Amino acid sequence: MALKETKLKTITVPLGKRSYPIYIGSGVREVVGKFLSKIPAGKRLRFPRQTIIITDTVVARLYLEDVQRSLKASGFSVHVIIIPPGESQKSLHRADAIYAELLRNRIGRKSTIIALGGGVVGDLAGFVAATYQRGVSFVQMPTTLLAQVDSSVGGKVGINHPLGKNMIGAFYQPLCVIADTETLQTLPERERVCGLGEVIKYGIILDEKFFEYVRKNLPDIVAMQPAAIAHVIARCCELKAYVVSRDEKEEHLRAILNFGHTVGHALEHAGHYRSLKHGEAILLGMIAETFLAHQLKMITADNAQRIEDMIAAVPLPRSFGFIFSAKKLIHTMRSDKKSLEGNIRFVLPKKIGRVTLPIPVKEEIIAAALHSLNQFVMNL
Ligand SMILES: NC(=O)c1ccc[n+]([C@@H]2O[C@H](COP(=O)([O-])OP(=O)(O)OC[C@H]3O[C@@H](n4cnc5c(N)ncnc54)[C@H](O)[C@@H]3O)[C@@H](O)[C@H]2O)c1
Repeated sequence: MALKETKLKTITVPLGKRSYPIYIGSGVREVVGKFLSKIPAGKRLRFPRQTIIITDTVVARLYLEDVQRSLKASGFSVHVIIIPPGESQKSLHRADAIYAELLRNRIGRKSTIIALGGGVVGDLAGFVAATYQRGVSFVQMPTTLLAQVDSSVGGKVGINHPLGKNMIGAFYQPLCVIADTETLQTLPERERVCGLGEVIKYGIILDEKFFEYVRKNLPDIVAMQPAAIAHVIARCCELKAYVVSRDEKEEHLRAILNFGHTVGHALEHAGHYRSLKHGEAILLGMIAETFLAHQLKMITADNAQRIEDMIAAVPLPRSFGFIFSAKKLIHTMRSDKKSLEGNIRFVLPKKIGRVTLPIPVKEEIIAAALHSLNQFVMNL
């Protein structure tokens, strides 16, 4: 299938000399070689012809051949590394195995790692790109909704540590992001819902009009209807590019992207990263953090209800999949990266389209919000 240029959307992440394009379109995986050949002259020195595609077994079966064919047709040599799917792959053990394979194959510094897959592949491959021989070029080809609207943009790469999620990593911007919306057609519903979590987050933190668009078009978005999904991906990327360009290293504004994540990460941890997927945990985290804001009288009942109604309309799991303990969740939150001197901090919504920077909240108020979350899930 040839790419229809008219349907291609390009968004720039403006970071001075490290600015890069995000290409969004149906079928773009089949012309990836042409995109990479077009990398501007100044950057081409960092962009030699040796490429390494890192992908997982599920995505490899579906899309690897198309990407490989396009790269080879444009004169790139391609080495492929296929890993098993799943969050457990974001580990030092897996990174080490990839380093070994790159070294065994004498892959030098002048090469480009291409992450073809969801957020797990993107975070892991980006971490390897940032560290292998002190850094090689990196391209993101996200294939899940979550990765296309969020994780592939902004340069956060990393792996998990047994003592905490995303605790080892770097800020390492790609040369470009190539998001093929057609690949979303094969995503299972559970993965679509995960991506929706981040989509809804962007509406709540930055853009009430977009929140309303998502609310009105939810069935089309869940069904990955091409026009609706292309609009959603482009708007989320614009919003993320806006935030990242103002605060690349999360010293202030970028922290707002963590709305829902303090509780969300604790829920993921409680389920040993198996019971709940990242996006599901973030959806539930956003509910709990909205309850918190309401208890603190920071958001009106009407705005809090709109957030609750939106998330309740998403097909969520009807149980946590583990025994719910507010005490244990709070214990996990104390070791979250966002905690400061033992104070658990939250990004809280003031209204739809506007949130606070992280603020500390007393543990008894957190416990009450977690109990309300438990009720919310029981009533689903
Ligand atoms: N770096 C960041 O800024 C950032 C932001 C948000 C989330 N994340 C990270 O992203 C990860 C979650 O990413 P995810 O939700 O994409 O999960 P994932 O990468 O595990 O992908 C989910 C599943 O979908 C499969 N898959 C991928 N593309 C497919 C397709 N087109 N068709 C069918 N199946 C497909 C994968 O094989 C996998 O089994 C977490 O580790 C999270 O920490 C990172």
